[in-house]
Amino acid sequence: MSEPLTTIIVGAGHRGVLYASYASAHPEELRVVGVADPDPVRREAVRQRFGIAPENCLGSAAELAARGRIADTVINGTMDADHVTTTLPLLEAGYDVLLEKPICPTQAELLQLLQTARRTGRRVCVGHVLRHAPFYAEIRRRVAAGEIGELITVNTTERVSYHHMAVVFVRGKWNQKATSNPMLMSKCCHDLDLIAWMKSGVRPQRVASLGGRMHFRPEKAPDGAGTRCLVDCPIERDCAYSARKHYLEQNRWGTYVWHCLEHLGQPTMDDKIRSLSTDNPHGRCVWKCDNDVVDHQSVIVEFADGCVASHTLTTGTAKPCRTIHLVGTKGEIEGSVEDGSFVVRFPDARPGHEFTETPVDLKVSMDMHGGGDLRLVGDFLRVVRGERPSLSTTQLEDSVYGHLIGFAADVAMEERRGVEIADIGGR
Ligand SMILES: NC(=O)c1ccc[n+]([C@@H]2O[C@H](COP(=O)([O-])OP(=O)(O)OC[C@H]3O[C@@H](n4cnc5c(N)ncnc54)[C@H](O)[C@@H]3O)[C@@H](O)[C@H]2O)c1
Repeated sequence: MSEPLTTIIVGAGHRGVLYASYASAHPEELRVVGVADPDPVRREAVRQRFGIAPENCLGSAAELAARGRIADTVINGTMDADHVTTTLPLLEAGYDVLLEKPICPTQAELLQLLQTARRTGRRVCVGHVLRHAPFYAEIRRRVAAGEIGELITVNTTERVSYHHMAVVFVRGKWNQKATSNPMLMSKCCHDLDLIAWMKSGVRPQRVASLGGRMHFRPEKAPDGAGTRCLVDCPIERDCAYSARKHYLEQNRWGTYVWHCLEHLGQPTMDDKIRSLSTDNPHGRCVWKCDNDVVDHQSVIVEFADGCVASHTLTTGTAKPCRTIHLVGTKGEIEGSVEDGSFVVRFPDARPGHEFTETPVDLKVSMDMHGGGDLRLVGDFLRVVRGERPSLSTTQLEDSVYGHLIGFAADVAMEERRGVEIADIGGR
């Protein structure tokens, strides 16, 4: 292999650094040579971790773009609302970009990004990591090979656990549509992308959707609930959403919960208790937050060939999981990614039979999106090197229809009507 490609981390948060860790595992393929982030603590942590020259530690994506092209690629791990504004000048400066999902909050921004990528000839790959999880990649391979025939229906579900829902979409930074995205886009742009990918080459045309915020609202608070779990709540010990249980006793979701204490390095238990008792948003009662995103939503999509797909997002579940059920003209595939296995069924009309069922066990762990996170980086590098991308490739042209389904679903749910999807020439 020739020299490793070089990359600059733009947005040195949890996701940007995770993707960049590919360079540590595969130094022959990727070298991190710069970082752009307004947060000096994060900039310094990344500088030390990857041995970056001080002159390549910059304060923003705009500052980097103004320097021109000083590396082959950028890993853009900024927050949702910053994705397009940070990426446009980097494409103009000549970078190929690995861009986190969701691509952006609006259809207008998505089209602007697509047009700029087409005009500049730069490549953008989107963080749809589940396409690279062996579970979904194997299902897609079988569908593309025609094993179950032409798809008639596609049904997916995503069940978000009670503690995940609380930390991210009720107390956390994806809890408001205006500052992040509708929850369907934040959480299920993966699933909508998987649906569009299973139907690659066939355009989604019409979308309907119903849903809303039913549970995480003040009037649903249990009697006597306080406003902060560690401060004024007499029922905290009996509450499944207690911040003390989730973040102090069970140590869940530290990346999000202790972001505000990053400057301390290793915060002590006293630091954490003080934080949850005062200004940490994760110390709040889940029924008394400033959240406005949905806690359940269903989407129905009709494709140009008549196939109908549906996706249901439900939250606050005891057991998190994602499921998929594809029915084709010859057979069907059904499974749950958390199980790491699915079954393939075919009708069997022999006397005494009804169907044959073959289990497919991929024996993979669910770490890093079923192994998809770093495989996605590997595929991005193949695209940039001009090699043949995998069937799972998430280039922008292959990724737009899932997002268009999501944008249409939001309008359909808000306005209680069906919404048509435009043909924008994606693949
Ligand atoms: N692929 C997945 O499954 C997956 C999972 C979780 C999150 N995400 C997405 O990853 C993205 C990042 O999430 P995170 O939790 O790592 O975010 P984060 O808030 O931890 O990190 C974002 C970083 O961007 C920096 N930043 C802000 N403005 C900037 C600018 N103009 N130029 C450069 N840097 C700037 C911030 O200082 C921050 O350090 C989000 O869009 C999120 O939706 C994807």
